[in-house]
Amino acid sequence: MESLYGGATHRRVTILDLAAAKKRSEKWAMLTSYESMTAQIFDEAGIPVLLVGDSAGNNFLGGENTIAVTVDELIPLTRAVVRGSKRALVIADLPFGSYESSPEQALATSTRFFKESGAMGVKLEGAHIVTVEKLVASGIPVMGHLGLTPQALHQLGGYRVQGRADGDSILEAALALEKAGAFAIVLELIPSELAQKITGALSIPTIGIGAGNSCDAQVLVWTDLMGITQNPPKLAKAYRNLRVEMLAAVTEYADDVRSGTFPGDEQTFH
Ligand code: KIV
Repeated sequence: MESLYGGATHRRVTILDLAAAKKRSEKWAMLTSYESMTAQIFDEAGIPVLLVGDSAGNNFLGGENTIAVTVDELIPLTRAVVRGSKRALVIADLPFGSYESSPEQALATSTRFFKESGAMGVKLEGAHIVTVEKLVASGIPVMGHLGLTPQALHQLGGYRVQGRADGDSILEAALALEKAGAFAIVLELIPSELAQKITGALSIPTIGIGAGNSCDAQVLVWTDLMGITQNPPKLAKAYRNLRVEMLAAVTEYADDVRSGTFPGDEQTFH
């Protein structure tokens, strides 16, 4: 694949394509997706990697944060994203409590995602090095996630910038994840200078969110990008204001029904 955008469309993007993109310094975008409609649209737009994030817990299932979402909830969402896409590499987020106990637990959870949803890789938060080695040795591509790890929200004392005082420990964790076989690492909410240093030190791609623009790739939660999320985080950019658009459309529809102008002739059968 000569480019991640507009490259081959007859097959899915692979982790080898992402490694090649890093070598030629090609930047790319990842997006979250939680069902088949958005997966279809993002795939058509050429987004090479779709993440079924545990952010589905708050952005799709109405939870307060990502902690409560379960494997049983995320598997059908991942299956829908796989079904809705043809080209994107689909990565499933391992939810809180589904992988931390042991490498065996992580393998069992990842195996469920692979068999029951068709996920092509998993993401896990933190520096679980032995676990990553085990998954990779079992044929499961692993995306790491360092910096602000939202599953550790209560331990971290909130959604705060990480790595201001202990940047070296994040760099060390990133290097250890790469050595263990991770194919990419999400860097969330860390100073851009640190993200730049980590990106330069790694031969695998870094995917930034609130980590400046030196990362090899960027990720956004799709509802933030579309302006649907209420009170979006500072790290997000709303490219559209779909909340306003959707509100207007639904209000118009409700008014049309009330006034008897919907359905009109075009939607009526004789
Ligand atoms: O769950 C998620 O959406 C994520 C991304 C923000 C990286 O982990």
